[in-house]
Formats: sequence, C-alpha cells, structure tokens
Amino acid sequence: MICLKDCSLVVLGIETSCDETAAAVVKDGGETLSNIISSQIDVHRVYGGVVPEIASRKHIESIGYVVGEAIKSAGVEKHDIDAVAATCGPGLVGALIVGLSYGKALSYGLRKPLIGVNHIEGHICANYLDNSKFEPPFMCLVVSGGHTHLIKVIDYGVYEIIGRTRDDAAGEAFDKTARALGLSYPGGPAIEAAAKSGDPRSVALPRASIAGSPYDFSFSGLKSAVLNCINKSKMMGDPVSAEDMAASFQSAVVDALAGKLIHACEEHGMSKVALAGGVASNSALRSAVKDACLARGYELHMPSPICCTDNAAMIASCGYFHLKQGKISSLDLNANPNLPLCSLD
Ligand code: KG4
Ligand code: ZN
Repeated sequence: MICLKDCSLVVLGIETSCDETAAAVVKDGGETLSNIISSQIDVHRVYGGVVPEIASRKHIESIGYVVGEAIKSAGVEKHDIDAVAATCGPGLVGALIVGLSYGKALSYGLRKPLIGVNHIEGHICANYLDNSKFEPPFMCLVVSGGHTHLIKVIDYGVYEIIGRTRDDAAGEAFDKTARALGLSYPGGPAIEAAAKSGDPRSVALPRASIAGSPYDFSFSGLKSAVLNCINKSKMMGDPVSAEDMAASFQSAVVDALAGKLIHACEEHGMSKVALAGGVASNSALRSAVKDACLARGYELHMPSPICCTDNAAMIASCGYFHLKQGKISSLDLNANPNLPLCSLD
C-alpha cells in the first residue's frame, strides 16, 4: 500500500517512443533526481531519419543500462521507487514495446504500481519539472516531430485540444525541409544553426491560414514552397543559399506557431502560457513567444531545451500526477502507436 496523500513519492520514468532510450527518477512530480538519455541519433543519421527496426533493437541494447544509471545517479535504491511510469503511446510500436515491457517487469518485480503515460501528455508535464510554482490552467503549444497541438490545460490530466496540424507536424516540416536543403538529420537543430547566418526576409514564403479553424496549422504548403524555390533556382542555375532558405523557413514556422498560440490565449482569456516538445527548444520560437508574452504581461514557461526533446523525467512527472489521482495501469496494458491524448482517463 502506498501513501498518496501527504507523503513524498518517487517515480521512475521510462521513455522509448522514438529514438531516445531514456530513464529518470523524479520526486513529487517536479524534483528531477536523475535524467539519463541515450540518443540513437548518430545511428539513424546515415539513413536521413529514424529506422523503426533499428530503433527497437537499440532500445533493447540500452534499456537495462539506462534504467540502472537513472537509479544509481538519483542516489536511491530500487525499493525507494514508489511507481514505474512508462510511455505506452503514441510512437513507434516496436520501440514503445521495449520500454513498456521493461517497465512492466520492474513494476511486477518491485511490486510497485505501473503507470502507462501518453507521450504528448508527458511533453506537457515537462513544464512541471523543477518549477513547483507552475500549475494549470495554462495554454500549451506542443510541437514535436509527430505532433503539433494547441492545448488548453484545464487541470492536471484535463485537456482541451483547440488546434492541431492538418498535415505535417512542425518538427516533421523542419526535418523534411532540412533534407531538401542537404542539411543533416535531425533537421530542427540543423535549420536553426544554418538560419543564424541567413536573412529571414530573403525568400517570401507562405503563412497558411485555414478558413473557419483559426487555431489549426498546415505546413505542407510551406514545405512545397521551399521545394519549388530550390527547383526553380536549380533550373535557372542560381545557387540556393541554404542559410537564407533556412532563416526564411524558420521565420514562417515561428510566425505561424507563435501567432496562433497568442491568438488562442487572447480569445480564450488565458494569460499563462507554456511550450512543449522538441521544436520548443528552437531559440527563434522561444524568443518570439517570450517577446509576445512580455508585451501582453502573460506568464510564460518553457522547459529547458533538454527537457523539450524526448526524455523520461517528463514521463515520471506525468506518472506522479496520475498516481496522485489513483490512475494506475494494469500489467496487460499494451503499447498503442496511435494513442490519443486523454484516452487514459
Ligand atoms: O519531441 P521530440 O524530441 O520527439 C518527438 O516526440 O517527435 O521532437 C523531435 C523533433 C524533430 O522533428 C526535430 O527536428 C525537432 O523536434 N527539433 C527542433 C529543434 N530540436 C529538435 N526543431 C527546431 N529547432 C530545434 N532546435
Ligand atoms: Zn516527443
């Protein structure tokens, strides 16, 4: 029996939904005791993107070591862990199964509860890490490689999705545009680096708006516009400046993301704002949102860049809030590659 009321709770988080094998120990949903991430990026870079079969195999190779290091560097013993939280979706099914199975085995062996965590909800919970004063309600822009959502966080575990992408996710657009420009994988950091020496006004690129859905996003037109510019320049024999194109592309994405986030806050009367997901580590997006929030007197929180990209501390934090609400998973929980947000309620 674990004490859920006023006792301190230590949760071990496990994250293997894509190409990072990660484990972390978090106390009371916010105090990060350890946060270990083993990245497979170098392995996948040669293929220009994540190869699911390779990702699963690499997770199997690393999971035992990564979990062991998370427990050791947290300075706790296995029996100090009150619950095991593991990502159960969305993500690559083979990759998810590795972390979830490991989490189930640990939960069974330690006789501690298992908590299946939705990866997107985990990204939102990165905002609670090492920031005990931040709490719902707030408006959150979740921008990752697979998702772009504008979410009203009404309370812990209570979400209203008010906008989403109609086609590519923001991170996917970064990755595809980087590939078209001959930049390396993952595209986000490569575009951000190239954009630093480019002119964001050099190429006129579209900012999509969707009639009747002011908070939905669309990035496929932007991606096609970049491809058209590259092809046109090639046909004319003009060299394409990857730096100028990267800066112009980044500026178009940032305008769309920051613009719709702030518009949503104004319309929904929310003055507390948060960012989440890998793209939230982008410094141009961070400074655009920061300036817009400052100008309106909004309170803004952004996880540290390392906690924006995939990690297990955010999964442990999310697991803690589920545990407090008595939301525990059974050991027959399955990985769901298309798990929607809120489906664990
Ligand atoms: O959240 P995340 O680590 O994994 C998913 O859940 O997808 O996000 C990965 C995505 C990739 O598309 C990557 O290119 C993008 O986040 N990303 C960035 C930056 N760092 C990572 N995009 C823009 N700027 C960055 N600095
Ligand atoms: Zn993610």
